[in-house]
Amino acid sequence: MQTINQLDALRQHISALRDAKRRVALVPTMGALHGGHMALAEEARRHADAVVVSIFVNPTQFGPNEDLDAYPRTMERDADLLRAAGVDILWAPHARTVYPPGFATEVHVDGPSKGYCGAARPGHFDGVALVVAKLFNQVQPDVALFGEKDFQQLAVIRQMARDLDFALDILGVPIVRDADGLALSSRNAYLTVDERAAALALPVALARAAAQIRAGDDVAQSLAGATADIRAAGFARVDYFALADAVTLEELHMFDGRPARLLVAAKMGKTRLIDNLAV
Ligand code: PAF
Repeated sequence: MQTINQLDALRQHISALRDAKRRVALVPTMGALHGGHMALAEEARRHADAVVVSIFVNPTQFGPNEDLDAYPRTMERDADLLRAAGVDILWAPHARTVYPPGFATEVHVDGPSKGYCGAARPGHFDGVALVVAKLFNQVQPDVALFGEKDFQQLAVIRQMARDLDFALDILGVPIVRDADGLALSSRNAYLTVDERAAALALPVALARAAAQIRAGDDVAQSLAGATADIRAAGFARVDYFALADAVTLEELHMFDGRPARLLVAAKMGKTRLIDNLAV
């Protein structure tokens, strides 16, 4: 595996792959890799000859009161994991390479970035869209893979790629869960043992609400029940527990059989967790 920090070196590698007619996959990450990221890298291998994983803790997607400085940085361990997984290139740019002095461009995606995490974390998806657009231009992949755990992020990126004519396929990869059902997340590392146990209420409430909605129960009542359940388990702040159209993310108040997704974000102690489930 080549670890690359400089853009001109990355470009040389990518153009050599292009000359050799290799299909390139990109898996963008912020590091602190877990099984969910490794599933993305594994899936990427099935769609391309060369797999590039980027690690960049992107400052523009963190709000002023969020955990940018505390965000786990485990570069050596991450590099070992990627090497063992057969990844070809680790693209780990410095912040000044991504955002050089004088950087003045913004990317704002409307539509799917409204509501949910877009409302709870103003500016977050602008930062995600900006860095992902840059990564697409830097790596020029044929295919890019994102986890369905960040379901709204995936919808925002699909919209941006469509709107800005990025010539690549975007693949969503199903959520990877621990054996007990908690979705893997770099933020799970912040949970105490007790919080980790209580956080299980999230996938349990999602599964129960999905079953109720599928069975024809009233959507508002099912969501209210699920919200009450996770509050009772210790989630002090529930940002949203909603049913959404799986493509547009428009909020649904009735289940009409179209592909729909339950989306939840809630805070356990100091840690904000998100999860989602298809209905
Ligand atoms: O999902 C993430 O880890 C980040 O939001 C991403 C897509 C790598 C952009 O920084």
